[in-house]
Amino acid sequence: MATNKIKINDVEFYEDPIAIENKIWQMLDEAVNSRASECRTPVFICGHNNQFDGRTVVLRAANQQGGFLQFHADYRSSKIAIIQENEQGVFVFYDRRQKIQLRIKTKCQINYKNKISHESWLKTQHISRKAYLTLSSPGSVLDKPGTGLTEKHENFLYSAEESELGFENFCVFRCNVQTIEWLFLSAKGHRRAKIDYEDTQNKFTWLTP
Ligand SMILES: Cc1cc2nc3c(=O)[nH]c(=O)nc-3n(C[C@H](O)[C@H](O)[C@H](O)COP(=O)(O)O)c2cc1C
Repeated sequence: MATNKIKINDVEFYEDPIAIENKIWQMLDEAVNSRASECRTPVFICGHNNQFDGRTVVLRAANQQGGFLQFHADYRSSKIAIIQENEQGVFVFYDRRQKIQLRIKTKCQINYKNKISHESWLKTQHISRKAYLTLSSPGSVLDKPGTGLTEKHENFLYSAEESELGFENFCVFRCNVQTIEWLFLSAKGHRRAKIDYEDTQNKFTWLTP
């Protein structure tokens, strides 16, 4: 009888390290290219001293060959100063349908007013540029409920030329992957593994789930 459920015995990534790594990068690629992907909006965590925080971001690039992930942010956000103090950043993804969690440790660089941020800015649509046009920094206090935008910007009444002002506040996090932890939940038995991109001798390790 036909079934839509994943058959555990059939998934090639159950016990095969190469298949697991392929599956991970295929999921990340899909997250960038499909709004429907469950991995499109991971949580990104960073911190300095005792001040750690996480937030949802949109994954904008996943490059297996280059070994990095990217997302966009407002350069005035407090996470910029944090990353400049401590470059470590962690992404957590969970694909509920496939029952796969990815925890990705990275070292991040901020790209501001350079070639990388300019390339990404050119791909940022007119309506999305609004996010970078607020008068004050993300997280700054307002004396009443509001968007932080002028009424004109709120109503998308800005020209393509005016949208360019957003580039002043736009930056790209490029996060170089150090390790990926894989967790696959299965009734047959969970599987957990670590891929270490900084240890070529012991790149792949099975872990107790
Ligand atoms: C679905 C969703 C997607 C988001 N995407 C981003 C993003 O790509 N980059 C970003 O900086 N913030 C994004 N945010 C907002 C952050 O979660 C966070 O509220 C904001 O960045 C301010 O937090 P911070 O400056 O303290 O990091 C997103 C929020 C949601 C709910």
